[in-house]
Amino acid sequence: MKISIEGFPFLIFVSYLVSVVGISRAADTVNTTQVIRDGDTIVSPARSFELGFFSPGNSTNRYVGIWYKNIPLRTPIWVANREFPIRNTSSAALKFIPTGDLVLQDENNATIWSSNVTRAARNPVAQLLDSGNLVIREANDDQPGNYLWQSFDYPTNTFPQGRDFGWNLVTGIERYFSSWKSNDDPAQGEFTYRLDITGYPQLVLKRGDSVLHRLGPWNGMQFSGMPSIGQNITFTAKLYMNSSVIYFREDTLDRSIVSRFSLSPSGVAQRLTWVERIQEWVVYYNLPTDICDNFGLCGAHGLCSTGTSPACSCLDRFVPKDEQAWVRSDWSGGCLRRAPLNCTRDVFLGYSGIKMPDSQFTWFNESFTLEECEAECLRNCSCMAYSNLDIRRGGSGCLLWFGDLVDIRQLTGEEQMIYIRMAASELDSKGKKRKTLIAVLTSLAGIILLGLSLILFFWKRKKNHQNLRNEGGPEESHKEDLELPTFDLWTVTKATNSFSISNKIGEGGFGPVYRGMLEDGKEIAVKRMSRTSTQGLDEFKNEVIFIAKLQHRNLVKLLGCCIQGEEKMLIYEYMPNGSLDLILFDFGMARSFSGNETEANTMRVVGTYGYMSPEYAVDGLFSVKSDVYSFGVHGYYKERRCLELVDTNLVDSFYLSEAVRSIHVALLCVQQSPEDRPSMSSVVLMLGSEGVLPPPKQPGFFAERDVRAAENTSSSKNTVSSLNEYTITVLDAR
Ligand SMILES: *[C@@H]1O[C@H](CO)[C@@H](O)[C@H](O)[C@H]1NC(C)=O
Ligand SMILES: *[C@@H]1O[C@H](CO)[C@@H](O)[C@H](O)[C@H]1NC(C)=O
Ligand SMILES: *[C@@H]1O[C@H](CO)[C@@H](O)[C@H](O)[C@H]1NC(C)=O
Ligand SMILES: *[C@@H]1O[C@H](CO)[C@@H](O)[C@H](O)[C@H]1NC(C)=O
Ligand SMILES: *[C@@H]1O[C@H](CO)[C@@H](O)[C@H](O)[C@H]1NC(C)=O
Ligand SMILES: *[C@@H]1O[C@H](CO)[C@@H](O)[C@H](O)[C@H]1NC(C)=O
Ligand SMILES: *[C@@H]1O[C@H](CO)[C@@H](O)[C@H](O)[C@H]1NC(C)=O
Ligand SMILES: *[C@@H]1O[C@H](CO)[C@@H](O)[C@H](O)[C@H]1NC(C)=O
Ligand SMILES: *[C@@H]1O[C@H](CO)[C@@H](O)[C@H](O)[C@H]1NC(C)=O
Ligand SMILES: *[C@@H]1O[C@H](CO)[C@@H](O)[C@H](O)[C@H]1NC(C)=O
Repeated sequence: MKISIEGFPFLIFVSYLVSVVGISRAADTVNTTQVIRDGDTIVSPARSFELGFFSPGNSTNRYVGIWYKNIPLRTPIWVANREFPIRNTSSAALKFIPTGDLVLQDENNATIWSSNVTRAARNPVAQLLDSGNLVIREANDDQPGNYLWQSFDYPTNTFPQGRDFGWNLVTGIERYFSSWKSNDDPAQGEFTYRLDITGYPQLVLKRGDSVLHRLGPWNGMQFSGMPSIGQNITFTAKLYMNSSVIYFREDTLDRSIVSRFSLSPSGVAQRLTWVERIQEWVVYYNLPTDICDNFGLCGAHGLCSTGTSPACSCLDRFVPKDEQAWVRSDWSGGCLRRAPLNCTRDVFLGYSGIKMPDSQFTWFNESFTLEECEAECLRNCSCMAYSNLDIRRGGSGCLLWFGDLVDIRQLTGEEQMIYIRMAASELDSKGKKRKTLIAVLTSLAGIILLGLSLILFFWKRKKNHQNLRNEGGPEESHKEDLELPTFDLWTVTKATNSFSISNKIGEGGFGPVYRGMLEDGKEIAVKRMSRTSTQGLDEFKNEVIFIAKLQHRNLVKLLGCCIQGEEKMLIYEYMPNGSLDLILFDFGMARSFSGNETEANTMRVVGTYGYMSPEYAVDGLFSVKSDVYSFGVHGYYKERRCLELVDTNLVDSFYLSEAVRSIHVALLCVQQSPEDRPSMSSVVLMLGSEGVLPPPKQPGFFAERDVRAAENTSSSKNTVSSLNEYTITVLDAR
């Protein structure tokens, strides 16, 4: 030890001479006999990065750092002595000391910065790599796994492309960004951007200890709140997780693009791209991007949307905690459930198109199914929501939320569904608000019912004409219907840009809907049945045939279907205005949850509320007859107002009785009790014949439901029927 200290002055003297020679050849390494002084630099082998002394911004302070070699605008990606600038570099030096650490000494020979090697090397060498990483290793061992130290483990405010950050669980080292104090001072500022692993991994931007922005949890493809990448994907993002590492990597697909991720002194995380032509860094994206990126702006259970004014609203079935504050645009109080939870009788309502909330969350690995997630969440009364962890391949794994759900924003092109816990009473309460909802739904349903009645009416008229012309009968016309064009998977895949996110225009209970364009330029909307759907092939075909039969100019035109292996798709003509709702409306929706039973029970309720049958909405109980209900859409339940549905031009016409018959059938379809509703085949029969129709009973949502009747569909007892006081007398009068 003593010897080496005595030997040092000589060594440094020698190394000083050597270093002058070494640096002049632009070496990429420093060894124990070399010293780097102000003015010396080392350059990576392919000349992409350079290391040496520099002064940031307008400062005269000197720092040791690494910057882009080929970019004239001095852009440091790493600073060694960020907290301790050197003012007089006349005798400052970056060199190895006997412990094997690289140190920076000031003019008083005081060590102001030091590396932190895992062990002392016999013959250490520091090398600047083309990635911008400064590594310390044994001179004769360049295996990355054997690096003794690397600057990448101690990042400052910038990462060059291709760089990972996050956690090494083995060494305990966390790589994260921390802002500079200012453009002139690289000392650690107020802001950090890191991969937070207290719950499920997510990127979090903080000022001190307070969260400013988060991107939401990783969903297998991206962070839930990540800005939409769009058509030209220049960057790839990945989250790696195993027992030894949890890290995030964003990379450029095109290696010729020079790009970096940087946290500005004012707390803006941005990706920048070097544009050679204008010799400037151009912002590719900024985070936070807009007002809704501000963490928790709308409080608990608030929903932020940039498309609305004010930006905050409450989640469906939630109300502002403090109405007055809310009106004053003070949203921090957030929203409350309209109906308090009752642990044992709660249901889950599905939402999509939102950034996954923040909250204390736990997760389960990919061996869990959505049903198991639900069961897991139901088991614990403080579990407020669940979703699939990974949305790829139909979804797997669980993410469970405990406590208030905060920082939710409206997004477009978002596939992840979250199921939020609700009081069961939210779905069958007889309260005042409920009635308002019914009123709204009723008027909506009235319009839809009118549409459906007209379709049935015209369809029937057309069919009658056909029957008159040929004596074909139902068998043959059925065959005709089967000749619906089929599309091959390749055509549909090509038309929708391989089902790209940017082509997605909506999502229903069955799966997503994509917009696309066929080779002949025709625009289509593709309803892609979720692969987890257990709807059988026959059921699917029946549905297709059924919808095809309902073709009408007021409805979206079904062009065909595509059945190939696991894939089941419906292809509609794309219509820019308002067609989406009808495509999303799914006759087969209920079936996506059950197996081959005719009736099943699920606590999860998904769908467009107005179309849901009462037993499904309230108890999650559904059957074939739920679909019939959906078909009829719940009703227009006011005596003698049937005719108001019919166009005045038709009232005196020859077709009136047929129109009214169609409405009558529609009302039969929406009867409260599933066993009262006709089957789909009876509907077709009733429309095609002139026979006497049974009077419709109480439609759903207009009286108290009898749970016993709903739960025991095999029973012929029906207490609801006692409420029957409705007949279509107008029809008889004509
Ligand atoms: C350091 O590098 C210089 C130049 O390559 C070389 O002459 C010298 O022997 C090296 N020193 C050690 C200890 O390897
Ligand atoms: C340096 O100072 C000048 C004049 O005050 C200013 O215009 C410039 O933006 C500063 N540069 C940096 C990098 O702060
Ligand atoms: C810098 O330090 C050297 C000795 O290390 C001293 O000679 C010189 O005067 C100092 N320069 C300034 C400007 O303080
Ligand atoms: C720093 O160390 C060098 C070489 O060991 C020596 O010549 C110089 O006097 C020292 N400077 C101070 C201020 O101790
Ligand atoms: C050096 O590394 C060890 C573990 O590798 C760690 O405990 C220690 O805090 C580090 N010291 C510094 C100054 O980074
Ligand atoms: C995608 O890139 C191509 C070629 O670089 C360009 O022509 C096209 O306009 C870009 N599309 C979008 C949506 O940016
Ligand atoms: C974890 O992942 C990293 C990076 O993909 C890999 O290098 C490492 O070997 C993995 N470790 C385990 C235990 O699988
Ligand atoms: C929950 O609902 C059940 C059944 O309606 C009722 O008996 C129970 O009192 C309710 N519990 C709470 C905490 O409201
Ligand atoms: C998932 O978790 C279960 C139970 O915790 C465990 O048995 C199984 O091995 C895990 N599977 C994977 C792939 O990690
Ligand atoms: C419910 O979950 C919370 C949060 O994970 C936990 O603290 C609590 O012990 C759980 N309660 C039960 C009954 O499992």
